Amino acid sequence: MHIYLDNAATTPVDKEVIEAMLPYFETAFGNPSSIHSHGRQARSAIENARKTVAKLLNCSPSEIFFTSGATEADNLALTGSVFSLDIKNIITSSIEHHAVLHTAEWLDNNGFVKIHLVELNKKGIVSLKSLEKILAANSGCLVSLMHGNNEIGNMLDLHEVSFLCKKHNALLHSDTVQTIGHFPFDLQKLKIDFLVGSAHKFHGPKGIGFIYINSENKIGPIIHGGSQERNMRGGTENIAGAVGLARALEIANQDMEVKRSELVSLKSYFIARLKEIVNLEFNGDCLSQNSLPHVISISTPKHEVNEMLLFNLDIEKISVSGGSACTSGAVAGSHVLNALGIEEDRGVIRFSLSKYNTVQEIDQTIAVLQRLFK
Ligand SMILES: Cc1ncc(COP(=O)(O)O)c(C=O)c1O
Repeated sequence: MHIYLDNAATTPVDKEVIEAMLPYFETAFGNPSSIHSHGRQARSAIENARKTVAKLLNCSPSEIFFTSGATEADNLALTGSVFSLDIKNIITSSIEHHAVLHTAEWLDNNGFVKIHLVELNKKGIVSLKSLEKILAANSGCLVSLMHGNNEIGNMLDLHEVSFLCKKHNALLHSDTVQTIGHFPFDLQKLKIDFLVGSAHKFHGPKGIGFIYINSENKIGPIIHGGSQERNMRGGTENIAGAVGLARALEIANQDMEVKRSELVSLKSYFIARLKEIVNLEFNGDCLSQNSLPHVISISTPKHEVNEMLLFNLDIEKISVSGGSACTSGAVAGSHVLNALGIEEDRGVIRFSLSKYNTVQEIDQTIAVLQRLFK
């Protein structure tokens, strides 16, 4: 049996999602810009998908724009607000996803904004004091802080951050990729300017995501072309993708609390079993109640097996990652683990769970780790 414990990188697509998507490849394949019936069918599918997403987040469909994924959505939030809303300062952290950090760095390197990094404690928790200090000293600010960290599982209190942003007249963007589908969002209650989601993180297809743009913010596109997505993103729409995203989000929202508490139980069990391994350490804030229900990051005991750790686990038919999916597994490859000062002579494993994982899989993984670190 192959064990997949890399769900923060991507998740398997739910069967019902595939079924919902299939007609849009086979029969309802029209281009929504066409005026004939095939086109109208496709138009109605994407607008229904938009309505579904908007309903689940409690916002207006006109505030949801489909994108190729969260990387594009993050780029759009940052670049769009700098070019259209006169943002001069981006306040972010050193442990954001590269979709945010590299975009902010590009904007800074090209003289459009100045980046300010908030202080973090040893576990990578954002100092709200430091955030407020930077907000008080600067005007024209966009705060971009992720809701849940994909490598170490830390979570941010978005309501607190939103309160500080409103107090100091700053815009707020959050990369909510790891929390959409796990936590409920009510955008009438949470005052936020931009948030983003990616279907493949919640059992939907790859290559489709969305951005919520609060209607008070009128920003321009970063992808120029046709008038699709109300002039916000040129290019023929990914109809099957949008339908799949909406269906996946719907499924994620059904019994969300139950599914989350099942994940939390599985995570707690996994943590308890990992503690049996001597000299293993947990990274970031993943042990706390206020962390992502599906992410555990560990530093393994010093041992020669660390050199080829992920490779060894792969041979044992266990798929995990080092820091994030886009790093090789070497500690030096992860800017997040580097920012936390994680010791380089240890191995790092990020385990990330989904509703499809079982206690048996955890037990089997622990047995392999015990054998490797004997
Ligand atoms: C926190 C976070 N932000 C952004 C992304 C990028 O998402 P996408 O693959 O949809 O571009 C990811 C995926 O790795 C992520 O985990």
